[in-house]
Amino acid sequence: MGKIINICGARPNFMKIAPLMRAYQAYEGINPLLVHTGQHYDSNMSELFFKQLNIPEPDLNLEVGSGSHAVQTAEIMKRFEPVVLEHKPEWVVVVGDVNSTIACGLVAKKLDVKLAHVEAGLRSFDRTMPEELNRLLTDAISDLLFVSEPSGLKNLKHEGIPDKRVHFVGNVMIDTLRANLEHAQRSTILDTLELKEGGYNVVTLHRPSNVDDAEVFGGIAEALDAIQRDLPTVFPMHPRTVHNLPKLGLAERFEKMKQLRVIEPLGYLDFLKLMSSASVAITDSGGIQEETTILGVWCLTVRENTERPVTITSGTNTIVGTNPEKIIAAYRQRRAEKLNAPPVPEKWDGRAAERIAKLLAEAS
Ligand code: UD1
Repeated sequence: MGKIINICGARPNFMKIAPLMRAYQAYEGINPLLVHTGQHYDSNMSELFFKQLNIPEPDLNLEVGSGSHAVQTAEIMKRFEPVVLEHKPEWVVVVGDVNSTIACGLVAKKLDVKLAHVEAGLRSFDRTMPEELNRLLTDAISDLLFVSEPSGLKNLKHEGIPDKRVHFVGNVMIDTLRANLEHAQRSTILDTLELKEGGYNVVTLHRPSNVDDAEVFGGIAEALDAIQRDLPTVFPMHPRTVHNLPKLGLAERFEKMKQLRVIEPLGYLDFLKLMSSASVAITDSGGIQEETTILGVWCLTVRENTERPVTITSGTNTIVGTNPEKIIAAYRQRRAEKLNAPPVPEKWDGRAAERIAKLLAEAS
């Protein structure tokens, strides 16, 4: 069994890579290396997650930083190729659907190195979404595809991926949630923000389709204005969104919302606590749709589709789109409704990374 190079780059990758790095320890023959592409580089978008989740220091940081999709993807490829040539790994493991995922996957396969994709098979069927292209292309070239929910099996079959490459292992992001929930409950973030359990909403928005367009973001702001009149609302804001507010002429609009508080992006533990005690989460994140499903918190997804349908069929998620009236109506409905514990999606049991490490060890 040889070297496995594991890739992480952007915030949602860190909670996926953490349980994998731990699970490899059960296999003496596996020699895991960790490469950070540097796609995310702010301390509260990256370093804090390494500390809180006990992720080993990356063996290498490619320090690519921000750029257009083409520039960022190309830069990651240029800097990752010599790493693969030097280390000659048996496997490259990529997670999720960010630019680092496809960039490193492509480099590996062009050098004839085996590629494994964690969180394979998810499809929004919306090819205007950059992550959908990253998902489709990474799955098309992967040798092992680790699927998190049943829809992934169906999608990969439909795309003609041979069954023997595909394994339904569960959800590594939920491994991390389960491992850290108790610790997160000790976070003092509610005191810091002067919030009461269940007495507030939490918002996150960062998708270009929502926050790069004045009309769309203006509509969402209208909905948030109504929502914050009902309950205090906290909005840990992604750097892209912070950057866009003044550019789109929306800064003043947000300042006028007396019960809506914009704060810096939070670390993993504080955010987990904030989310777990919220009344409603309003988001365009993929991960939060899954996490609220396990936490038993209502989630309104401000998008027209989701690549994670199990969060709707067995979870707490509702797709509400970006129309303000629809968002407000869905919010009112959820606030009035008691939430009974939803069924836990199959294999979201905290052991997905163990299954992946075992399969990789067997395939080596
Ligand atoms: C990326 C992922 C997205 C994921 C999100 C989580 C892709 C295509 N998108 O989007 O799937 O949901 O991460 O956050 O890979 N910036 C900083 N500091 C940082 C990182 C980014 O200020 O540490 C700012 C920069 O202005 C940058 C912008 O955020 O241009 C966008 O960053 P980028 O990595 O391009 O994509 P995200 O929007 O974060």
